[in-house]
Amino acid sequence: TIEENLYRPNFHFTPISGWMNDPNGMFYLNGYYHLYFQHYPDGNKWGPMHWGHAKSKDLIHWEEMPIALFPDEMGYIFSGSAIVDHENKSGFGVEGQPPIIAFFTYHNTEMQNQGRVDFQSQAIAYSLDEGNTWTKYDENPVVKNPGIHDFRDPKVVWDKKGKQYIMSLAAGQEIRFYGSKNLKDWKFLSEFGKGVGNHDGVWECPDLFPIKVQGLDEEKYVLLVSINPGGYNGGSGTQYFVGDFEEGRFVLEPSLQEKMSNYHDYWVDFGKDNYAGVTWSNIETEEKEKLFIGWMSNWQYANEVPTEKWRSAMTIPRELQLIANDSGYRLSFVPTKTLDEGKSEKIKTYGRMDISEPKELLESESIPLSSASLTFTLMNAKSSSVAVKLKNDVKEELVFGFDHGSQTFFVDRTHSGKTDFSKDFAPKPSIAPRIIGSESLQVTALLDKTSIELFFDNGTTVMTEIFFPEQPFTELWFTSSGENAQLDNIKLSELKN
Ligand code: FRU
Repeated sequence: TIEENLYRPNFHFTPISGWMNDPNGMFYLNGYYHLYFQHYPDGNKWGPMHWGHAKSKDLIHWEEMPIALFPDEMGYIFSGSAIVDHENKSGFGVEGQPPIIAFFTYHNTEMQNQGRVDFQSQAIAYSLDEGNTWTKYDENPVVKNPGIHDFRDPKVVWDKKGKQYIMSLAAGQEIRFYGSKNLKDWKFLSEFGKGVGNHDGVWECPDLFPIKVQGLDEEKYVLLVSINPGGYNGGSGTQYFVGDFEEGRFVLEPSLQEKMSNYHDYWVDFGKDNYAGVTWSNIETEEKEKLFIGWMSNWQYANEVPTEKWRSAMTIPRELQLIANDSGYRLSFVPTKTLDEGKSEKIKTYGRMDISEPKELLESESIPLSSASLTFTLMNAKSSSVAVKLKNDVKEELVFGFDHGSQTFFVDRTHSGKTDFSKDFAPKPSIAPRIIGSESLQVTALLDKTSIELFFDNGTTVMTEIFFPEQPFTELWFTSSGENAQLDNIKLSELKN
């Protein structure tokens, strides 16, 4: 259909049909990356939540599997996580087969309609066949609601030092931590969030995990917290905190206390379309990095985007690193390396290029701009700006770039095609600060039919946005302002579907 041709992404996960939001329960096992997701299979708007399921060997090609968890009399199945219980601490395993345990929130609409506050609680299910089929625990819920209106999205991780599992939970505008040795009995440990971070909305989908500091023999804990509203460019977005996890508490890095007041710049993504993202479990080996995926939409307009058969896609899976420098700790995100395996022979490289006059780089079908990776370096980011423009035959355009005067990045989708389905979709360009910059500025852009993912300065500033042109973009232009604007190391590669 026209919709499939124009809008079904080439290399991002979408459900075959129906509504999708948050990624859930991701784990890696026996060569497969599993991805579950908030799903309403019977409609293209948010509705009674299920966990859909997909799996992939390379994080690019996904096979959609039968639905993993259906809503039942206890409620809808809201977001959560999964772990592989290698030592069978839960006791659900049989015959040496480690069970996989899923943690999710029951959202009970009847209780909600009665005006009660305790309509969300935490529950578990287990799988003995690598995540294909699940049995709900008969003593659910495992964490009852203590009287908190928003109480959801359990993410479980093993705490080496404390020798127990930690469950992070979103509770109002705070994160609560619970501990357990057997994954069934959970004890409240502590809470985090008062007076720090953005508080313009409800906190959701936390993810606490240990991570090595890049190049150092040091380990820190990172806590991802999604918030709606409160995102950097409006609507929903994901902030992060760096610190330690000691004796059941998350202790924020002291240097961040002041920097992380309500309006701060510690965001996983500054674009409008990366929400509720969390990391995979069971892949923390020496060679493999921490791996993240987010929902590529925004609650401001997710229910209105102009696709009918399905709604929403996930971001490209991203590798995360924690880097330390003079000004403290920062996360960086780069596209999964498996994306390189999908690059075709179609690669165009260009040498150093003066862009003081607008330059058209490409006007051909040779490399489709709806399935490509573009990289380049802006040589002197202190004194020159760059704008990259994608255009089509009906004069729509998507523009992104860097402004040296304000040292900010931008994505402008205001004239990118269909925008009027929501006043919040493209009221103005989105902007982002330069977090870690040197004289030259390195840029990677992933282009799909309806999304752009921008990794600036090796992924220390990321921007992800979606768009819906009436026709595919076919032209690629570079323009600049400022002194002596030059690009180098320009490379455009086709990504195979
Ligand atoms: C985040 C969220 C979660 C919740 C789920 C419901 O986008 O609101 O907090 O579990 O979506 O679908």
